[in-house]
Amino acid sequence: MSIKITSSQLAIDLENQYGAHNYHPLPVVLTKGEGIYVWDVEGKKYFDFLSAYSAVNQGHCHPKIVIALTEQAQKLTLTSRAFYNDVLGPWEQYMSEYFGYDKLLPMNTGAEAVETAIKLTRKWAYEEKGIPEEQANILVCDGNFHGRTTTIISFSNDPDSKKHFGPFTPGFISIPYDDVDALENALKTIPNVAGFLVEPIQGEAGVYVPSDGYLAKAKALCEQHKILFIADEVQTGIARTGKLLAVHYENVRPDVLIMGKALSGGAYPISAVMADDAIMHVIKPGQHGSTFGGNPLAAAVSMAALDVIKDENLADNANKMGQIFRAELDKLVGKYPLLKLVRGKGLLNAIVINDTPDSETAWNFCLKLRDNGLLAKPTHGNIIRFAPPLVINEKQIRECVSIIEKTFSEF
Ligand SMILES: Cc1ncc(COP(=O)(O)O)c(C=O)c1O
Repeated sequence: MSIKITSSQLAIDLENQYGAHNYHPLPVVLTKGEGIYVWDVEGKKYFDFLSAYSAVNQGHCHPKIVIALTEQAQKLTLTSRAFYNDVLGPWEQYMSEYFGYDKLLPMNTGAEAVETAIKLTRKWAYEEKGIPEEQANILVCDGNFHGRTTTIISFSNDPDSKKHFGPFTPGFISIPYDDVDALENALKTIPNVAGFLVEPIQGEAGVYVPSDGYLAKAKALCEQHKILFIADEVQTGIARTGKLLAVHYENVRPDVLIMGKALSGGAYPISAVMADDAIMHVIKPGQHGSTFGGNPLAAAVSMAALDVIKDENLADNANKMGQIFRAELDKLVGKYPLLKLVRGKGLLNAIVINDTPDSETAWNFCLKLRDNGLLAKPTHGNIIRFAPPLVINEKQIRECVSIIEKTFSEF
């Protein structure tokens, strides 16, 4: 029998004692979530302004998703891909129509989907493009975040992510983000490029929104050089930025599309790679897989989660609420010297705190926000990401702006 949690401190103590210290959570212990709200074990209610790093776009414990989860859980949860199941095919067809690709390769976490996209790109490059074996290069961007596996951290620029985890996987070349000339130059000078892997907005790096036209120009360059444009929409996808996918702002259709997080509305780990037959056909039986990838529970949950996005017009809502949120926060710039700037798209936003990246100010600000009833977390030092569930309404967003302003005034 496990111990009953009677206080936040007890839960924190247990994690400290028995859990690996690979995270530095804000000291708040949550026990319940509903829509845009979460509650701690003492019963205090908060606005969730992180949404589990944009996995809970549909809001906590969305009833339709919970019903799909529980109904399927009572019927069949896992067969492995050794056999067919009667939900995977319908989900694959649903995803194909929803996102407009011939095929889906199902995985579980974002990092796994990124790994899958890398393997797919390399195999396509050797078998279809004729790049000499073992020579394929993939271009990535400075400041990227694509997950935590050994291969993915091989091309990270973040020392904390990399230090003492080597040796690393070769075959990745990092170029400046939001720099078309750098991409063009790399494509002209670097041999055997197979693909360009990019986040349409760099979320973990601090919500860096590239210049208008960057993604469209990058896609055109990829087409010109016959390499794959691989979009990592794990964080930006599924309506977060005000469109179903962030690349839709520039009418870009990636050759390889990577998604995760909100594919399940936070109810279950689900990720996916989508591509057309001409690319996906290079993966044959036995060459890639996952015990849990494509399980019937994931398939049922994902269809419900994606239904919610459309039924509740969450992309439009994210767009509208995001505009109000940024406009209101922009009014605070200048009024509070601590607030340096506000940026973002849809409901993927960040503020930059006017202090050095190694200062504790953003962390302390988040502690105060917590005390005032709003949960957010610094990403990279002095940047605080604000990403509430997309079901938030105008009254609630204005209430949250008031909490943020109150926190600035008290700080
Ligand atoms: C853009 C991007 N790619 C990949 C990942 C990794 O996803 P996961 O943590 O599910 O492995 C993340 C996670 O934050 C992400 O933001």
